[in-house]
Amino acid sequence: VQRFDIGVIAGDGIGPEVVGQGLAVLRAVAQGAGIEVTTTDYDLGAKRWHRTGEALPEGTLDELRRHDAILLGAIGDPSVPSGVLERQLLLTIRFAFDHYVNLRPARLFPGVRSPLDVARVAPEGIDFVVVREGTEGPYTGNGGALRVGTPAELATEVSVNTRYGVERVVRDAFARAQARPRKHLTLVHKHNVLSYAGHLWRRTVEEVGAEFPDVTTAYQHVDAATIFLATDPGRFDVIVTDNLFGDIITDLAAAVVGGIGLAASGNINPDGTAPSMFEPVHGSAPDIAGQGKADPTATILSVALMLDHLGRPDLAAAVEEAVAADLAERADSVRSTEQIGADIAARLR
Ligand code: IPM
Ligand code: MN
Repeated sequence: VQRFDIGVIAGDGIGPEVVGQGLAVLRAVAQGAGIEVTTTDYDLGAKRWHRTGEALPEGTLDELRRHDAILLGAIGDPSVPSGVLERQLLLTIRFAFDHYVNLRPARLFPGVRSPLDVARVAPEGIDFVVVREGTEGPYTGNGGALRVGTPAELATEVSVNTRYGVERVVRDAFARAQARPRKHLTLVHKHNVLSYAGHLWRRTVEEVGAEFPDVTTAYQHVDAATIFLATDPGRFDVIVTDNLFGDIITDLAAAVVGGIGLAASGNINPDGTAPSMFEPVHGSAPDIAGQGKADPTATILSVALMLDHLGRPDLAAAVEEAVAADLAERADSVRSTEQIGADIAARLR
């Protein structure tokens, strides 16, 4: 029998609640397919950090590395200084496991209300995916500060862009575009100001594009891209962009297709040299934690991305269909985190 061995980092705030439902759906779909799911919980996040002073204890990366994939809820808490868990836990895993494709689909499901007048701005529907670079850019921690706290304070935050890093994510984005009906790739950057990195990205898209003659390409500066995401999102198919631009536009993309409660993501290592990690785009939402109010749909859709990555696109499609059916009937019904998970899982049994 097929076995999925999943490392689980439920994390902080609503993390454990949404992960519980993600796993319930994973188990339901796996059971129907005769797949055995085993999970290992990792106690990481704010509580662990307060208790031990460690965000990612020595050896944990090696343990995580042994799994087929990782499911992460959310990390972060106001009681922990900003940046500590983000850098020492989340970004450390993304970098160590070479999650260079941060995949963030944005699809408006039938029945979901968008803040946009969709009939006017996107009568063809909204269905695109952002391929956000995940290991470079301004996220590398390459910077520093001088004379902190003085009027002469200086801070730098250098964006790192390597040909190797840009080329591999661009090639992945082209391949994804090639596999989609519209075969269209948009590079989002800011080469009118960030000329060095901008030209590297632009040239790389041009050169790699020669390998994908049937994929059409477009370019947009990131500021203009935000306009089109709000006024003409139907034009996008696959977007490839750097780590920080991708972070920003995927929150906007999530809002456009019904909110952060539905936005899924995969931190993918396409080469399989380390496990990929799947997580909702949203954060730990400490204000509603423990109340059963969080929408687990983003985590459940992240489980679908996980199934696809684990070589079961059929099961990924089944989960997406179950979510789509649930969303279509949702209207204004108010259900608990657990109830939404149970309803979606029931459709898969
Ligand atoms: C995300 C988050 C993270 C990011 C933070 C928590 C480090 O905003 O996954 O989008 O910026 O990548
Ligand atoms: Mn973000």
